[in-house]
Amino acid sequence: MDTRTHSPSPSTPPPSGPATTPARPSPTIQDRNTRTPEPAPRQPLPALGILTGADVLNRLEGRREECVDVVRRAYLCHAAGHSVNPESAFLRFPERPEARIISLPAYLGGEFEVAGIKWVASFPGNPSRGIPRASAILLLNDTETGYPFAALEASLISASRTAASAVLAAELLTGGRRAARIGIIGTGLIAGHVWRFLRDLRWETDGFTVFDLRRDHAERFADSLAADGTGRPAVAETAAEVLSTSDLAVITTVAGEPHIADPGLLAHGPTVLHLSLRDLDPTMILAAQNFTDDTAHAVRERTSLHLTEQRVGHREFIDGTLADLLCGTVARTPGRAAVFSPFGLGVLDLAVGKWVWEGATAAGAGRILPDFYGDAVRDGTL
Ligand SMILES: NC(=O)c1ccc[n+]([C@@H]2O[C@H](COP(=O)([O-])OP(=O)(O)OC[C@H]3O[C@@H](n4cnc5c(N)ncnc54)[C@H](O)[C@@H]3O)[C@@H](O)[C@H]2O)c1
Repeated sequence: MDTRTHSPSPSTPPPSGPATTPARPSPTIQDRNTRTPEPAPRQPLPALGILTGADVLNRLEGRREECVDVVRRAYLCHAAGHSVNPESAFLRFPERPEARIISLPAYLGGEFEVAGIKWVASFPGNPSRGIPRASAILLLNDTETGYPFAALEASLISASRTAASAVLAAELLTGGRRAARIGIIGTGLIAGHVWRFLRDLRWETDGFTVFDLRRDHAERFADSLAADGTGRPAVAETAAEVLSTSDLAVITTVAGEPHIADPGLLAHGPTVLHLSLRDLDPTMILAAQNFTDDTAHAVRERTSLHLTEQRVGHREFIDGTLADLLCGTVARTPGRAAVFSPFGLGVLDLAVGKWVWEGATAAGAGRILPDFYGDAVRDGTL
């Protein structure tokens, strides 16, 4: 009996591939772009972990030197091009011009390999409600799947990475960890973190001078330094007094417009960490060497660097970045004032956030939500 059900027609060409493999047409470019890969067997969805402010603080306390090193490596990674750091977006409110919420999305590759976003709000009216001005959350995304895997309280991360970058710049610009007199203008949260970093990195100084528009803030700050054993700072009457008597000055106010406009205050060549970005008049900027974290970011949003560019029509007054100082491609001119105005890069939040996350979770801290995404997300219904 003939069992064949099909006989190839005499005109059918012989198969070109192995006899057991049916010939398949090669995919066109359009096919490759539109075909979805075969779905893999279902896997559990990633978990989401949460670190509270207390978890973050526990991790940072006693590890500030390490935090500065994380920030240093993040700057170098960013400068080497292993990052994407889009411009921050500023959300403002017509009825509350003093308030803002800023988003800082970023990707940092190299040894860090993480993406994410910091969402940081500044509501200057908060202290009169009895709560801090700034609040923030940081989401870390896995770069393989895109899934956010961690949500961290971020005002402490933000303050710590800002203070870490400030003391790193101070060390690079002064050539060591000593300043005869350290001045602080604006004695709020960030100033407190800068002081903790200076203390933990064992900076040497003969004393502090502080000034705040609110005398009670300056006195409270002075009291807390005294209680910590640092020695009670002198409380100055003006910002000018602090600048003219300090060889390292830290500016951490919430001023929206320049309020220090006497270049003579820089005649003794101090190092100025201009963290609040909008305090110095362009005449002060032009009287100093200027360093920043990323020029494209820092020369916008009416910072003092931006106002200076608008006045002179160029950016040549910016000598370089912190990464340039780290790599030795620019140097401080001895005897000349140096101003560091860092915009604050999202990549730093990612680097410090991931470092905190890894250390905290390895120590068993934080809450893991295994079903944050869950099958409801995958199937659209339970
Ligand atoms: N560059 C960065 O990366 C970065 C990161 C975080 C915060 N910041 C900036 O640091 C600044 C300080 O933040 P914070 O959380 O410490 O604020 P804060 O509200 O806790 O403290 C600010 C202090 O400055 C004082 N002040 C306001 N105007 C002043 C003036 N003209 N002269 C003297 N003192 C004045 C206030 O009374 C207050 O005590 C803010 O401008 C913030 O945007 C910068």
